[in-house]
Amino acid sequence: MPDFQPVLLANVGKPDSHTRRVYEQTGGYQALRKALGMQPKDVIEAVKASGLRGRGGAGFPTGLKWTFLPQNHPGPIYFCLNADESEPGTFNNRILMEDDPHQVIEGLIISCFATQARAAYYYMRCEYPLAFQRTSAAVAECYEAGYLGQNILGSGYSLDIYMHRGAGAYICGEETGLIESLEGKRAWPRIKPPFPAVEGAFRKPTVVNNVETAACVKQIIERGVDWFKSIGVPPDPSNPRDAGSYGPKLYCLSGHVNKPGCYEAPLGITCQQLIDEYGGGVWKGRKAKAVIPGGISMGLLKGDELHCPLDFNGPGKFGCLGLGTAAVVVMDDQTQMIDVLENSCRFFSHESCGQCTPCREGTSWATKMLTRIKHGKGRLKDLDLLAEIGDTIGIMPGTTICGLADGAAWPIKNCLQKFRPELEEYIKRTNPTGWMETKPVPALQLQTIH
Ligand SMILES: Cc1cc2nc3c(=O)[nH]c(=O)nc-3n(C[C@H](O)[C@H](O)[C@H](O)COP(=O)(O)O)c2cc1C
Ligand code: SF4
Repeated sequence: MPDFQPVLLANVGKPDSHTRRVYEQTGGYQALRKALGMQPKDVIEAVKASGLRGRGGAGFPTGLKWTFLPQNHPGPIYFCLNADESEPGTFNNRILMEDDPHQVIEGLIISCFATQARAAYYYMRCEYPLAFQRTSAAVAECYEAGYLGQNILGSGYSLDIYMHRGAGAYICGEETGLIESLEGKRAWPRIKPPFPAVEGAFRKPTVVNNVETAACVKQIIERGVDWFKSIGVPPDPSNPRDAGSYGPKLYCLSGHVNKPGCYEAPLGITCQQLIDEYGGGVWKGRKAKAVIPGGISMGLLKGDELHCPLDFNGPGKFGCLGLGTAAVVVMDDQTQMIDVLENSCRFFSHESCGQCTPCREGTSWATKMLTRIKHGKGRLKDLDLLAEIGDTIGIMPGTTICGLADGAAWPIKNCLQKFRPELEEYIKRTNPTGWMETKPVPALQLQTIH
């Protein structure tokens, strides 16, 4: 990507990049002025035409989501900015909020103007103290400058932003869990429909968008639809459900690479390019055994699948769920897949809110089995049971309220499809006398393991 110029990260690393003074020196808040001179519906049309898809994980088209708000609603309409950033390995929102909070706020104000929201709730992960401090200070600077409050820049449009600290759970990032938490309740995801656009925060129409999505909105209004569509990849003709993957993307690269970090690249860069050209290759001269393409809930690529394009359509072609948050975690050839899978299942079991039986029981049962296997008491039959759990607890069979269970299932499914021989070898090696056992193993045996 020799001629690609980062825009989302352009200010990152500059002295005082988090202040309004520095932000305005590089044209900050000119996009807001431009948007306020447009009709709200024309801002929506521009975002729709750009093909922007939400950066929070699901990749839903942003402009289309905004059109789901009821027409001529008496209000109020609310906007929630999702800064919970709870997917493991994901930190692009944090970089934006710490180093360029005004870019996000400008995108948020434009998005609120487009949707005619009268209040925005900035829901931020509680583990981000610096981001919270800098964003709160930036919001205060916006009130001083007339970018927030009553009659913004004389346009007649008014908006308030309320900062809200997250409640510290993975499901706080799920949009309806976020709304419940915002309302002061436990962050239990809601059954949909109704979707938030119809009945969201405080039972009013609500838009929920991710921090990076808001930053993209600001760039689209400033640089234009054609600029945005000139980056990325068009729809895949062989997939009628693919809406294309346009624009720049922030990739979070971590794990066993020489230069982990947050990198901006065009959507569609391959996993191999990201690791080699941005991450300086796999560390210690080793090879990649597995790579998480977009947060662990998206599943796993094998080391020989690194030509996978990291766009919204790419990881699906390699048996994964999707691009997710584009948090790419590299595991070298000395990594044990049993450790990866046990770690992943333990995470999801801990984070399951427990409302849905398949998710609550499936994630905890899988974790118990994997802990037992890891400690040398596995049976080959356990792998079939795990595969059954992976195939049945997800949202696809329509058994759960939110996507957490589906996210828990994909690493299980991918691990068994792609790394089964290694898991079988591990079980036989660590349990030489019991690996062929077919009788049920009492759960109580777990207590003898620790
Ligand atoms: C279990 C779970 C956790 C999620 N966590 C986040 C999160 O931390 N941040 C986020 O933006 N979206 C998260 N999402 C996706 C949100 O529900 C929602 O789709 C997103 O905020 C919409 O914004 P976007 O359209 O700009 O991507 C999560 C979804 C699920 C199922
Ligand atoms: S799928 Fe899991 S996390 Fe989501 S609502 Fe159901 S029990 Fe809770």
